Amino acid sequence: MKVLIIASGGDAPGMNKVIYNLYRRLKGNLFACKKGFAGLIDGTILPAQNFNPSKYKNEAGVCIKSARCPRFIHDEGFKKGLKNAKKFDAVVILGGNGSAKGAQRLAENGVKTIFVPATIDNDIAGGEYSLGFHTAVKACCDAVYNVMPSMNAFDRTCVFQVMGRRCNKIALNVAKMVNADALIANEDEIDFQHLAKVINKNYKQENSSIIILRENILPIDKFISTLKTFTKGVEIKPFIVGHLQRGTRPSKVDINKANQICKNIFKALKSEQKFSFIYFKEGQCKIK
Ligand code: F6P
Repeated sequence: MKVLIIASGGDAPGMNKVIYNLYRRLKGNLFACKKGFAGLIDGTILPAQNFNPSKYKNEAGVCIKSARCPRFIHDEGFKKGLKNAKKFDAVVILGGNGSAKGAQRLAENGVKTIFVPATIDNDIAGGEYSLGFHTAVKACCDAVYNVMPSMNAFDRTCVFQVMGRRCNKIALNVAKMVNADALIANEDEIDFQHLAKVINKNYKQENSSIIILRENILPIDKFISTLKTFTKGVEIKPFIVGHLQRGTRPSKVDINKANQICKNIFKALKSEQKFSFIYFKEGQCKIK
């Protein structure tokens, strides 16, 4: 059985573990698309072993490389990709919301497709968990835990910018975990007067403040300079957690999740089950 694996969109910690598990089982029968759907369209398909999956199994990132590929949304690109996908007995796709749509379209066009939710944003419609989300939230919390002792020494406020271009789940979870003084997860939530009140009160009591700001709301420098016009003499520092969220080694939770997902994939492949689309929803493996 010849299987093709593709990673699409932002890389997510845990992707490499899935690739390695599949490689260990399928050996020379596992092929990989280099650089996501772009590789599928252009036919850049190589044996998985060329990407050295054993070396990267416990690391973040994705050894087969990823890409964001608008060409795959359009009919011309999709048809080319479909032709290449049909050369395989099954295609495994790792990615987020956009990639899920691409996977579904391949399945609707006769490709046996398995979609694995893997995105730090955890933005897949109807799903409760995606690979990489736990690691990303943990990376943000660790940043807060490691930066705040220094902020405390000067009663400073720190604004932590976390990822989530169109999704606020990382921001919500981090704010809860670190017991933040304020969370800005959506644009209409910015109330500078209220924020200043909280910060000023903490400052007066010789305490620091933690603010969690989701990216793509207001540039962090602009956010801080505006906030400063409302606060009195408090030092406010920026901290952009950035790609630490995607580059941090996968947490135990994400590694276990990757192993669990692979067990389900193997079960489906081994039994030669008749399926057109396999996906994971609310932690369960769904087969169509
Ligand atoms: O993968 C999703 C994501 O991490 C978003 O949260 C973020 O906005 C975006 O990717 C960043 O992408 P890039 O690494 O291309 O700047």
